[in-house]
Amino acid sequence: MQDYIVEIKDVDKSFPGVQALDKVSFQLRAGEVMALLGENGAGKSTLMKILSGVYSRDSGTVKIFGKEYKDLNPRLAQEIGVAIIHQELNMCSHLTVAENIFLGREKLRGGVLHNRSMNKEAKKILDDLNIDIDPATIVGDLAVSKQQMVEIAKALSTNARILIMDEPTSALTSKEIDDLFVIIRKLKENGRGIVYISHRLEELQYIVDRVTIMRDGKYITTADFNKITMEEIISNMVGREIKEKFPKVTCEQGKKILEVRNLNAGRMVRDVNFALYEGEIVGIAGLMGAGRTETTRAIFGVDEKESGEIYLDGHEVTIHSPADAIKAGIVLAPEDRKKDGLCVKLSVRENIALPNLDILCDKFGVVDKKKEKTMTEKTVDELKIKLPSPEVNAGALSGGNQQKVVVGKWLARQSRVVIFDEPTRGIDVAAKVEIYNLMNALKKQGIGVLFVSSEMPEVMGISDRILVMCDGRITGELNTKEATQDKILTYATKFESKRAEA
Ligand SMILES: Nc1ncnc2c1ncn2[C@@H]1O[C@H](COP(=O)(O)OP(=O)(O)OP(=O)(O)O)[C@@H](O)[C@H]1O
Ligand SMILES: [Mg+2]
Repeated sequence: MQDYIVEIKDVDKSFPGVQALDKVSFQLRAGEVMALLGENGAGKSTLMKILSGVYSRDSGTVKIFGKEYKDLNPRLAQEIGVAIIHQELNMCSHLTVAENIFLGREKLRGGVLHNRSMNKEAKKILDDLNIDIDPATIVGDLAVSKQQMVEIAKALSTNARILIMDEPTSALTSKEIDDLFVIIRKLKENGRGIVYISHRLEELQYIVDRVTIMRDGKYITTADFNKITMEEIISNMVGREIKEKFPKVTCEQGKKILEVRNLNAGRMVRDVNFALYEGEIVGIAGLMGAGRTETTRAIFGVDEKESGEIYLDGHEVTIHSPADAIKAGIVLAPEDRKKDGLCVKLSVRENIALPNLDILCDKFGVVDKKKEKTMTEKTVDELKIKLPSPEVNAGALSGGNQQKVVVGKWLARQSRVVIFDEPTRGIDVAAKVEIYNLMNALKKQGIGVLFVSSEMPEVMGISDRILVMCDGRITGELNTKEATQDKILTYATKFESKRAEA
């Protein structure tokens, strides 16, 4: 059919132990946004890596602008006009913004890099996109959301006619998401075709024309977005209906487990006071940059505290490092899985065992292989982590399954307090429910659960109590029963500087 700019037909792709794609077909038209949906590990990223020449396929055909390509590679795909924004940030953190944007297409003068002209052009690209970043900044010094915007600018700078966005919004602030949607609409008007992958199903309505749904490496269906309901999308993705998006368990409030008093750490943690009780889940809400992650890091001993005390079961504990925190019984599943949460070059088994060696080793310091195996199997099983074997490198798992490993390794040990920072980022609807069930299970066992989340429905759906932060301070506390989005936002924007962002 003339009208398709991408036609993928019957594509197969296997990795050792997994068939990632099984006869998958997919089409894209010019001037449309096609959402590609499916659970973690469904094969979305793999299919798009084939279209952009990163992976080769085992069989099947790929036609771009009506022409069939047998051997695509990243450079050829770029020449044809395909650009991809990868799910995991893919930049050289020691290079500048401009150098990253022009990586592989550097501007030279007399055989040497011409920084001035690259900076100038990069500035223009960023300005056009309404992105306020100095092109000479080192990428590693930028916040994750800004790095994501640079990644987007880089893809757009190639003037691609086919643009693949794999989870572009998972690290963006709400203002940046709005800006991105404006850009997407503009690209659409200019006749570009866009493939949009996201687990934030509620954002699809703002940009999407059609959806293609995959499950377990197979093509399931394609539909016009306005002719399919959210329930149908979800049941096609998951293969069953999800009755309760936010399973709620009520427990009697018990003893005080954790108390944080007058905690100060840097500019982003100012005089933080709160307590956590048995039988409750406390959510920390706020806008990006409110100091939520910094608070969890200070408690866990990653960042130094200037002052303040932490009490666990009524006794003061001294925490100077994560090792101190873990020993005391406090664990943290961090936000940035690639940097802090996961060793991508180690196997899933090793990732799960690593923080639990104290439990797994005998008195001579030798790992008890049997215990290790049981722990790994239990974690994989409880979280339904999709993998061919626990021996594969954690880096080979799909994005969402990597996140499950980060969360899972902490659940393998008995702790008093578990802190989760954005535990469901990049995780599909069904897996989210599994993580909520786990949090509820911890709560039922009398373990204190504290979690940071930017997703308002999730904070309101899962917590018993909500703390709201703004500019490094706790600006409000709400009982979930009385909480509304408006009330949370009012506290989250208590200080003027944040109001514009909301
Ligand atoms: N380089 C690789 N080596 C081995 N297995 C891989 C590799 N890349 C992907 N896989 C496997 O292929 C399957 C599909 O993964 P893919 O990353 O395409 O899923 P996805 O739909 O993008 O999931 P998510 O929503 O979690 O990002 C998974 O089982 C994954 O473990
Ligand atoms: Mg993916």
